[in-house]
Amino acid sequence: MTLLYQKIAGIIEQQINDGVFRNGEKLPSIRQLSQRFSMSIGTIQQAYVELEDRRLITPRNRSGYYVDCPQNIISTATPTIESISPTPSKVDVLEMAIAVMTAARDESLVPLGSATPNVSGLAIRQLHQSIKSVASRTRNFNEDPQGYLPLRRLIAQRSPAMGKAFNEKEIVITAGCQEALTFALKCISQAGDLIAIESPCYYGILQILEVLGRKVVEIPVSPESGIDLGGLEDLLVKFPVKGLILSPSFSNPTGYPCSDETKQGILELLKKYDLPLIEDDIYSELGKNETRVRSIQSFDREGRVILCSSISKTLCQDLRIGWMVPGRYLKEARLLKFATTLYSPSIMQMALADFLSTQRLERHLRLVTVDYAKRQGILLRLLRQHFPQETKASRPKGGFISWIELPLPLDGTRLYHQALAEGISITPGEIFSPTRQFKNFIRLNYAIADEEVMEFAIKKLAALLLEQ
Ligand SMILES: Cc1ncc(COP(=O)(O)O)c(C=O)c1O
Repeated sequence: MTLLYQKIAGIIEQQINDGVFRNGEKLPSIRQLSQRFSMSIGTIQQAYVELEDRRLITPRNRSGYYVDCPQNIISTATPTIESISPTPSKVDVLEMAIAVMTAARDESLVPLGSATPNVSGLAIRQLHQSIKSVASRTRNFNEDPQGYLPLRRLIAQRSPAMGKAFNEKEIVITAGCQEALTFALKCISQAGDLIAIESPCYYGILQILEVLGRKVVEIPVSPESGIDLGGLEDLLVKFPVKGLILSPSFSNPTGYPCSDETKQGILELLKKYDLPLIEDDIYSELGKNETRVRSIQSFDREGRVILCSSISKTLCQDLRIGWMVPGRYLKEARLLKFATTLYSPSIMQMALADFLSTQRLERHLRLVTVDYAKRQGILLRLLRQHFPQETKASRPKGGFISWIELPLPLDGTRLYHQALAEGISITPGEIFSPTRQFKNFIRLNYAIADEEVMEFAIKKLAALLLEQ
């Protein structure tokens, strides 16, 4: 049970993490907070002592409490991106990615390695009921390759929340976002073509690029400031790219910020250089405390953006239900779906339609986005308490993943192997770049492990780093 003073400490910690109170800044007095929260002076005093224990604040003689996170404080620092050599490269991450994914699926390990959401809530039980209730209704006749119409309608009905509305005729249901991304790449390019990707980039995208024989050029993204439009234009001038893949809404792994202005700026560049964009939108509904963001596709009036998404991060990845809104590539996408798998499994499509037909997903998202924000604070605190001082970690405004830079010469891949031997799965940073840029980075999932388990794992990882 969380005690009152811990709750207050948690709120202030979150504000420090979010930059509301910056390093060196004076915090409100105990009396002010006691009035603001309608709580006793003693409770606020205890909260401040707790924050001192968390190494976040210090009292100054007769002057009150101040935020005291040394210059290298984890939660406000930005992982640096090495200036990436902008040379087109072949992708070769498949073997390592498969090993990492296999480890991440091992249920005996502490699950910090996968990008899996928390599936322990009421919504999952309701989803199971939906699956049971539709299972007896199998029809055994060929579905439209674009997918089950009622499901497409329900997805379309959710679309105004993301900006521009699209309708059911514009959607193709796929086997997860992964299949949508694969079809999208096939729609816009051929083997040997050059594709611009984020760096770091979700390794699942690198796998597709490798299997399809595409070459890539990396666009540096900063977890703190996102994509630099000038840098992007330089890259587009210099390289004959056939298209871009971006995940501008809480990307995996950095969760970099991308304002509506930047999104529109990216679209302007796409128009200027007449290029298509594949937009991976899978995390967009996981904004901290329900913050909603718009997709680049929602600004697009020419059908040059292919939106790809799924239910895997918002609800459950086992359904293997995703979708794409292929814009001007609708005909090709429909054909690819038909030629590859005929259509996605009807039972899962019907179950998801049944689930989405009430407000269950909205309720679920309200709960998990608050929970993930809280868990992010816990992870940052644990890192601050136990990891080397110069460690830096992202604090994305959505999703459930933190991208962590270890001070050199610490090695993220070595830590990954050490951690596996100790029963903990993490993801090594180097698989997020075809040119293996991020050897001293790791990615951690904070959605699943309970606080005690997370504490055990972070302490263990810190001890393993001492052995390096
Ligand atoms: C950014 C991103 N895109 C796509 C996927 C694949 O999603 P799905 O399970 O729906 O195929 C993932 C899964 O981790 C992801 O993180």
